Amino acid sequence: TAHRVVIVGSFNVDHVWHCDSLPRAGETRTGQYRTGPGGKGFNQATACARSGAATVFVCALGDDEGGALARALATADGIDLRAETSEEPTGTAGIHVDAQGRNSIVIGPGANATLSGGFIARQAQAVTGARIMLAQLESPADSVLEAMRLARASGVRTILNPAPANAESTRELLAVADVLTPNETEFAALLARHSSERIDPDDVAGADDERLHHLCRTLLPRGTVVITLGAAGAFVSHREDKCRGDEAAHYRVPAYEAAVVDTTGAGDAFNGALATSLALSAERTFADHVRFATLYAARSTEHEGAAESMPVLATPGVVAPSAPPTPSA
Ligand code: RIB
Ligand code: NA
Repeated sequence: TAHRVVIVGSFNVDHVWHCDSLPRAGETRTGQYRTGPGGKGFNQATACARSGAATVFVCALGDDEGGALARALATADGIDLRAETSEEPTGTAGIHVDAQGRNSIVIGPGANATLSGGFIARQAQAVTGARIMLAQLESPADSVLEAMRLARASGVRTILNPAPANAESTRELLAVADVLTPNETEFAALLARHSSERIDPDDVAGADDERLHHLCRTLLPRGTVVITLGAAGAFVSHREDKCRGDEAAHYRVPAYEAAVVDTTGAGDAFNGALATSLALSAERTFADHVRFATLYAARSTEHEGAAESMPVLATPGVVAPSAPPTPSA
């Protein structure tokens, strides 16, 4: 369909321990254990499908239980899964969540690290037939670049979520993004990597708007940057001559109140919902898309888990006051 979003990215089996505070070096703590589906790519694909877009998810899976879980969940959520089977085990993540809902994560990439450019090329039809392509950096940078190039060559709008912060990225990759969506840490890391300008991650939310706009322009001269600021909402920066039809060249969008239990996957909720909104509602302003994504992400933090916490919307593109997730597992 014309409202299709294609997502290229990771699937992980998340192993999660809820504890009072995050463990420090040398410390042993006791926590409540749960496991569930995750991976930035799959979380974003789930958010995208559950917020109302026809979703294609391109990934690499092991020939194991984790891979079978991904296939079953994709089917349950109506996600068109295109998985390259890997000799490596399906990706994993070890996640600690504290009493405030904050987390720290260690990833075992496994199969995700083997997603090949050749497999991406074989999905060309799915890519070029989409309205929006969304990718992250938990998959090989070369394969992501291949996908984004394919998309752009056929006029598909590209969103790059440059996560996690320590992932490698190239200027070349940034240059094929129409929209870049770092959080504060990722924004600071990208500047350190790709420009002579610096900002401390802790200073991003409180920085002067003109300064943030300037930093965004140095990072992505051609495109739009959306910095997600957690409880402080988001900052949007467009290229000056590309902001027609939006509120301004740069502005902030406030966050929504949430009864937070688990912020794991909140950034993924934002990215998936942003992709849905851009694909579904071309008549809305960019600010409206960001408001929708911000609200959707706020709701996702009110539920445990990553992919499982993505709210199902009764009306595509509309977040009801209290949108429950419908676990498909
Ligand atoms: O963004 C959250 C995700 O990061 C988790 O689901 C985990 O798998 C890691 O990829
Ligand atoms: Na969540």
